[in-house]
Amino acid sequence: MTATVPTTDDRALKARHRAMWALGDYPAVAIDVIPELGPELVAASGVRAGDRVLDVAAGTGNAAVPAALTGARVVASDLTPELFVAGREFAARHGVQVDFEEGDAEALPYQDRTFDVVLSCVGVMFAPHHQQAADELVRVCRPGGTIGLLSWTPTGFVGELFKTMRPYAPPPPAGAQPPPLWGDEDHVRALLGDRVTDVVAQRQTLTTDLFPSPEAWREYWKTVYGPTIAVYRGLADDAERVAALDRDLTALAARFDRGTDTTVMDWEYLVLTARKRH
Ligand SMILES: C[S@@+](CC[C@H](N)C(=O)[O-])C[C@H]1O[C@@H](n2cnc3c(N)ncnc32)[C@H](O)[C@@H]1O
Repeated sequence: MTATVPTTDDRALKARHRAMWALGDYPAVAIDVIPELGPELVAASGVRAGDRVLDVAAGTGNAAVPAALTGARVVASDLTPELFVAGREFAARHGVQVDFEEGDAEALPYQDRTFDVVLSCVGVMFAPHHQQAADELVRVCRPGGTIGLLSWTPTGFVGELFKTMRPYAPPPPAGAQPPPLWGDEDHVRALLGDRVTDVVAQRQTLTTDLFPSPEAWREYWKTVYGPTIAVYRGLADDAERVAALDRDLTALAARFDRGTDTTVMDWEYLVLTARKRH
């Protein structure tokens, strides 16, 4: 198996995705909102000292750094090298070595069977061509190695966030699939197919109580989260549509809010691990 060579259209799409993820302040999201997800994925995937680990769509190393803390040798690969400055600082703060390297999850720049463990924490789900990305995860994992994926579910908060934003965004390019499908166990099983065995999947929730109100979450998210910032930018001249999206995002957070004095939300995700067949 070899990585697919990207077309010119695909390079343009990935350049747009890279620019989107560099917007706002994704490092703040990783550190302030979802820091426990990386360690959870590393534990679920059984990363051990000495393992060669690849964190795909690693961002600032939310999974790569805890993987390195086990004593593993870790490469953190991502489409958006703008995030590596914060990632390298994050690794240095924890006193670990992580190699941050630019790469598209759909055409990973690694040889077949290179890694003992291939991880992705709410990462590969954002590559638009799911089968191509899944094929790459399998290709670079050694036979008997582990693939560990943590993905937002379609019906959880972040899945619903993408559904809420969809009518306000330009239509996705032909062939691009919705990210939260990676949170559907059957979808991921079908993508990995009979090339893996010992699939274990579990739905979990991340509880966040960082925001005093649904409106406070919305205003924060509009300043830090690239996909949301990009949708608002596309509406810039249309005050009515901006107000409508504001209302819809507030209503979404209010629907998930089970707090009393402050907003408390449970964000559902799927953790799926699998072993590559020999
Ligand atoms: C929600 S962030 C997750 C980052 C990190 N794994 C974490 O847990 O914080 C999604 C990441 O996917 C990356 N990404 C999006 N499309 C990608 C692609 N085609 N190939 C590699 N990385 C991609 C983005 O640059 C971004 O860093």
